Amino acid sequence: MRLPRSVREADVAGKVVLVRADLNVPLENGAVADDTRIRASLPTLQLLLDKGAAEIHVCSHLGRPKGVDEAYRIEPVAARLRELLPNDRIHVLENTRFNPGETKNDEGFARELADGCDLYVDDAFGSAHRAHSSTEAVARILPAYAGLLMEEELRHLGMLLGDVARPFVLVSGGAKVDDKVGVLQHLGRRADTVLIGGKMAEQLRVENPLDFEVELPTDVVGAAAFEAGAESATFAVDEIPDGWLGLDIGPETRTAFAARLAGARTIFWNGPMGVFEWPRFAEGTKAVAEAVAGNANAFTVVGGADSVRALNELGLADEISWVSTGGGASLELLEGKELPGVAVIPS
Ligand code: 3PG
Repeated sequence: MRLPRSVREADVAGKVVLVRADLNVPLENGAVADDTRIRASLPTLQLLLDKGAAEIHVCSHLGRPKGVDEAYRIEPVAARLRELLPNDRIHVLENTRFNPGETKNDEGFARELADGCDLYVDDAFGSAHRAHSSTEAVARILPAYAGLLMEEELRHLGMLLGDVARPFVLVSGGAKVDDKVGVLQHLGRRADTVLIGGKMAEQLRVENPLDFEVELPTDVVGAAAFEAGAESATFAVDEIPDGWLGLDIGPETRTAFAARLAGARTIFWNGPMGVFEWPRFAEGTKAVAEAVAGNANAFTVVGGADSVRALNELGLADEISWVSTGGGASLELLEGKELPGVAVIPS
């Protein structure tokens, strides 16, 4: 994979640097609910400070507002960044998506962002699949470099596309097969084993659009209704009563998947095995998280907000070789697609 040139090579002393970070974090009651992405952007900002940048303008989108929207002001994110890295050379710009030009990759808005800046550092791996003013057009206006997080994401995810240690086990779940069919097709055929849980397992059982075999659950935890407290029981997959829903993989499947994962040398995990937000349907996701984290002999990569959240809740994220900050961006990269935010940065 072609790697873009690094911020480590940039001469930033005395310069004004525009940094695009992905600070698109969840907010709750007006405060940052999970600061993982803010923390992940700190090494690049610290490097720029250490290299003597005169000023750092940090920009990001937050949510999907249509124009100016009070609920998506960047200030709570900026406040958290100030707590984590207090420095008066760092200025956080307002949510890029308040400008209607942003998502149209408008050059005029890119010029506004670039105004007064000497160079551009793109550290927003999570947004690199978007060709927007702050991720693409601006990189054609200012000399552009990749930030440290961007580099690390490309390096680790790129390893999955190269010569991997085998067995290579891909484990995927979540609600919609359509979102993941591309990555399953591209990466799945390179894997030795593909384990599928979650609702997408049901879809694949009915119709498998992939040109290789996958391992589907043999049993499920079923619920009489889609409710956290609904009556629940374990069934073999072909014995689920009419009207019941499979909301998690069952104990037999958990054991089988855990055994596959224990023997792997390379693992990519994306997507929960069930409705893990509800404790009675969280065991499958927990078993996969523990099996991935517990395999110290494997190179392990986890992507996707739900899987990462499950790992964080279980306190297992530190046991993973690389936890990606990209959702859609990681999937598109692993589908073999070129990411516009990466393609625009010279080597
Ligand atoms: C994400 O959360 O995956 C990125 O920040 C991209 O956000 P978007 O899907 O709203 O472009």
